[in-house]
Amino acid sequence: MTTNLSQLLACPAPAKLNLFLHIVGRRADGYHLLQSVFQLIDRCDSLDFYVRADRQIHRLNQVHGVPEENDLVVRAAKLLQQHCNIQQGADIYLHKCLPMGGGVGGGSSDAATTLLALNKLWQCNLSKESLMELGLQLGADVPFFIFGENAFVEGIGEQIQAVSTPEQWFVVIEPGVHVPTPTIFSSKELTRNTKPVRIADFSSAANVEWKNDMQAVACALHPEIAAVINWLKQFEINQGDAKMTGSGSCVFCAFPSEDAAKKVLQQVPNQWTSWIAKALQHHPINSKIN
Ligand code: C5P
Repeated sequence: MTTNLSQLLACPAPAKLNLFLHIVGRRADGYHLLQSVFQLIDRCDSLDFYVRADRQIHRLNQVHGVPEENDLVVRAAKLLQQHCNIQQGADIYLHKCLPMGGGVGGGSSDAATTLLALNKLWQCNLSKESLMELGLQLGADVPFFIFGENAFVEGIGEQIQAVSTPEQWFVVIEPGVHVPTPTIFSSKELTRNTKPVRIADFSSAANVEWKNDMQAVACALHPEIAAVINWLKQFEINQGDAKMTGSGSCVFCAFPSEDAAKKVLQQVPNQWTSWIAKALQHHPINSKIN
């Protein structure tokens, strides 16, 4: 494999937490209509992009057993290349830090960062809106990461409005199980008819039930997730603060200061991987590509 090292861009791909997640319906094609607040956090994968003079696209550290055509990063690069008829290619190195099947959006964020970085490096000049449309072909969470601000998200993930969220810190615990998203969405037991809320309702927290509708199904399938939630509940400031993100498996709880979060982190039992993360206001890639 020949690599043209003339151009390198190193870019972060942050994780997200779903501060709540309601399922309010189902489309005819089986996709679910949801409502959620997506919060960016400072825990990130990072990706290095090298422009190639030929049209080839490769992951330099391919995941063993995952064919390149199934790799979301490679698929994102090829989609943009095809869409804009680009004659260059890319070698991409992914430094993986975010758990897979964890509900923190790692794969979607990697794909979004790939679209944003190569749009810049290949000089495609696509608008953010066009990149978000392209990203939706790769996954329902991808448009949010391209949008790059904390957001109230509706539809299947494509209707996105910026919201301001508090400065806070999160303790995040990985229960040690990987949850495939389609398994939870296809469960007969899943709540699919939560009453929709409006963005105006957020002015009073009492108007919104801050729960994750996917949590009960995920906990029934994986008691490890329920065990983590039950442990973390002892530190809740408001009832229901300790909850799962996305379709699982990670569990988190919000704290008003870094010190408060650190005190809880120190007490997490050894069998679980855990970390703290700070709420971000913007996607950290913005400073590199704008
Ligand atoms: O879009 P993404 O690849 O993340 O979705 C994985 C699977 O989760 C979809 O194939 C679909 O079965 C389910 N899903 C859904 N409704 C959504 C998002 C995902 O039913 N809003």
